[in-house]
Amino acid sequence: MTVASVFEQILDRDHVYPFMQRARPHDIDVSHQVLLYLEGISVSFDGFKAINDLNLYINDGELRCIIGPNGAGKTTMMDIITGKTRPDTGSAWFGQTINLLDMDEPAIAQAGIGRKFQKPTVFEFLSVAENLELAMEDDRTLWTILSSRLSGEQRDHLDQVLEMIGLADQRLLHAGSLSHGQKQWLEIGMLMMQRPRLLLVDEPVAGMTHQEMDRTAELLTSLAGQHSVVVVEHDMDFVRNLAAGGRTVTVLHQGSVLAEGTMDEVQNNQKVVEVYLGE
Ligand SMILES: Nc1ncnc2c1ncn2[C@@H]1O[C@H](COP(=O)(O)OP(=O)(O)O)[C@@H](O)[C@H]1O
Ligand SMILES: [Mg+2]
Repeated sequence: MTVASVFEQILDRDHVYPFMQRARPHDIDVSHQVLLYLEGISVSFDGFKAINDLNLYINDGELRCIIGPNGAGKTTMMDIITGKTRPDTGSAWFGQTINLLDMDEPAIAQAGIGRKFQKPTVFEFLSVAENLELAMEDDRTLWTILSSRLSGEQRDHLDQVLEMIGLADQRLLHAGSLSHGQKQWLEIGMLMMQRPRLLLVDEPVAGMTHQEMDRTAELLTSLAGQHSVVVVEHDMDFVRNLAAGGRTVTVLHQGSVLAEGTMDEVQNNQKVVEVYLGE
């Protein structure tokens, strides 16, 4: 790998950085047990209503699955939560007091909302542990991580995250040598280094083996409680696994909520069968 290509990868990574940046634990008022409120949200692209009067509430510590056919507005919904897309109407609150529509992308990330994109964006030429260090919440740069040491508290947090993502034995390996699934877990770990309160995950198991999918379900389930996790996914076996035990599944269709309930409830919902599961 040449010096130029290393810099290219760093510059490339900066596009992603607004979402990765410096979220710190915040005083988020969840006195009503709700962490995220989306109310009456609509957004049109060239006259087409991608989101149409959407109402969605995510509880503090909840793991929520969101399903829906292609074009239902799932990714656009995440774009609105993270400040990438501004809605035409509606409101979006993080806890009782943080108005997301007043904030830009870096401010939203800093308030504690992390987003995992489909494509892993780990630094292939750094080790697993170095990737996690780079994602730490303070102002660590590539150059400081290569030269400096971590505090005891930072070291503990890094070890916890390595354990959580199942890569403790791989900590010294180059990220480039990991499997596709392991890279996805590393990226989830990089988000965890910033201690987000809400984690948004868009189609995490695309391209994974069955075993990796099971492991991913375990990982995301283990994050719930301490974090709220919103998972958008197409793979029904995976969603069934994640939602087992009566977790809430939301079905989006044409930009609004078509149905919400346990996996059994939504699977037996006639409207859902017609638009989605019956396909
Ligand atoms: N930036 C955009 N410009 C124009 N149309 C868009 C844009 N983003 C999304 N859309 C359209 O909005 C609809 C919802 O898209 P998306 O949120 O990506 O759906 P999903 O993730 O559920 O498949 C689609 O019809 C898509 O083509
Ligand atoms: Mg999508």
